[in-house]
Amino acid sequence: MKKLLGSLELNRIYQRDVIEGMKMIPDNSIYLIIADPPYNIGKKGNYLEANDHKFRTVKEDWDTIENFEEFTYKWLKESYRVLRPGGSILSYGTKHNIYMTGYLMDQIGYEIRTEYTWNKTNAAPCWTGRNPTESTENIIWASKGKGWTYNLHYAKSINDGKNIRNVITTSLTPQREKEYGKHPTQKRLEGLTDILINLHSNQGDIVLVPFCGSGTEIVGAQMLNRNWISFETNPEYIETANKRLDSLYIDY
Ligand SMILES: C[S@@+](CC[C@H](N)C(=O)[O-])C[C@H]1O[C@@H](n2cnc3c(N)ncnc32)[C@H](O)[C@@H]1O
Repeated sequence: MKKLLGSLELNRIYQRDVIEGMKMIPDNSIYLIIADPPYNIGKKGNYLEANDHKFRTVKEDWDTIENFEEFTYKWLKESYRVLRPGGSILSYGTKHNIYMTGYLMDQIGYEIRTEYTWNKTNAAPCWTGRNPTESTENIIWASKGKGWTYNLHYAKSINDGKNIRNVITTSLTPQREKEYGKHPTQKRLEGLTDILINLHSNQGDIVLVPFCGSGTEIVGAQMLNRNWISFETNPEYIETANKRLDSLYIDY
């Protein structure tokens, strides 16, 4: 039987603009939001040039947003409305967007609980030599007031009986997680996404993934018996995400 959330079906990806889609979600209905939004990196230029070489940075139409602050404010504000009291949001970023995200969260009324660091052990070197090698991404954890979920017993279970630190160290997204299609900014499922979902939600909870991409966060939610809902504008990414979901019943 189909499970509903207002007029939307749960456990389904909608091909829809995130802000339009979120308007259809009832107030105070979501337990956890995992957002991996555009970082607006592309706006800063397509190539880096150094030592007669050109190096590509992220340059995707979906990542280049004219009024980035307004866009970020709108989806964060809708996120706040749909979160239950005590619900959590986890939002990814780098230096390009993380400070603005944290500032806007604060303005909207979220309580910032921590900032996780994803420490990538095999990040690509800094070819220009003008900066240290960028090898981390950040994930802000914030809640809508008190009563948030932090599963300490789970945290201890993955760290020799002790609470974890707010650093998650793994290698980059492995090829085996890309066999159903590629996405230029695909997050890691095993050892990153699964940890975040286990820490901040429980079985049966409803998880909102505003930016589906290739589906890493919804696949994690499905694997861990959460309900979920997601939005994405690009049909090719939706196809990849659906193939990954189908594969769960075969080989994950
Ligand atoms: C950073 S990627 C998410 C990647 C995902 N975490 C994964 O592992 O595959 C952001 C995604 O948001 C989608 N997107 C960008 N703007 C959007 C919008 N206004 N509404 C819905 N989706 C959007 C893009 O097409 C892109 O796939």
